[in-house]
Amino acid sequence: MTMRNQLEDLKARALEEVQKAPSAANLEEIRVQFLGKKGLLTQLLRGLKDVPEAQRPELGNMANALKEAFNAAWVERVHDLEHQELQQRLALEWIDVTLPGRRPHEGGLHPLSRALAEIIEIFLQMGFPSMSGPEVETDWHNFGALNIPADHPAREMHDTFYLSPGSDGGQRVLRTHTSPVQIRAMESHKPPLRIIAPGKVYRCDSDLTHTPMFHQVEGFMVDRDCHFGQLLGLLETFLRRFFERRLPVRFRPSFFPFTEPSTEVDMGCLFCEGSGCRVCKGTGWIEVLGAGLIHPNVLGNVGIDKEIFSGFAFGIGVERLAMLKYGIGDLRTLYENDVRFLSQHTKGKEV
Ligand code: PHE
Repeated sequence: MTMRNQLEDLKARALEEVQKAPSAANLEEIRVQFLGKKGLLTQLLRGLKDVPEAQRPELGNMANALKEAFNAAWVERVHDLEHQELQQRLALEWIDVTLPGRRPHEGGLHPLSRALAEIIEIFLQMGFPSMSGPEVETDWHNFGALNIPADHPAREMHDTFYLSPGSDGGQRVLRTHTSPVQIRAMESHKPPLRIIAPGKVYRCDSDLTHTPMFHQVEGFMVDRDCHFGQLLGLLETFLRRFFERRLPVRFRPSFFPFTEPSTEVDMGCLFCEGSGCRVCKGTGWIEVLGAGLIHPNVLGNVGIDKEIFSGFAFGIGVERLAMLKYGIGDLRTLYENDVRFLSQHTKGKEV
């Protein structure tokens, strides 16, 4: 075969390989194979010295033309491959911009924590800072100082968890209400006093509407001329702010050993607005808290002069308020901590 034919043949093979090259890496190999320093073209051109001189310029031109054609085909193939790759990626990696975004999972406050925070905020705005007390209480703070002596029938109002006596031999209990914080506050601070005490309380009771642990917010005020009218106004304001509407509020006579007179506070049913429904058991009213003027014996127990000072106190059941406000029908769902339930009640709320 003449060199001319060989060059033509080489050109045809080189161009064919370039056109078939499946990848950029492969194209690079083909370049080395044909045009590299030790490539096929170099090898072929070594034979030039044996060719008659008159033919050499033409063969040289052919070799150059081969290189040019190779380079042009090579660049074209690179573009083709890039284009193909882009098409493939576009086909594979497309995204549907009309799909809703995936939101990061946000935590939220438990409905009870939210209710507590709201209650605390409302009372703080009305000048009642918050104070806490121990959950393991002495018998004296939980009962005795609150005018509930050891053999008094009023103890039966509370199903108490009794604990083994403390190091001083005194009886200890899990506090059955937040009222002992009244005693602790009055022991450690001189009147005038305004305080709320949110926290956990415990009663040995468990059924559809009772859990052995629940939450109360105690509130009380002691001053020179504390009277029932202030208590009424305060509770009415609180309930209206908490439920964010102008609810009717009524006070029913009741009994607590540590208040005299005592009252239970009802508000108009949120669900039927007074006409009677399942939630209010047809009465149009929902009982929401207990309250009264602090019993003179209680003031005496903490050394406050009942001739100078008087006070009122109230105890709010947090679970009940939270259930009413957020429309939760079953007390137990508050403690099962099923995230499907919780997320319904935390949506859009700050953590
Ligand atoms: N401590 C009472 C209870 O748990 C509620 C209450 C508090 C009533 C303060 C009157 C005054 O039942």
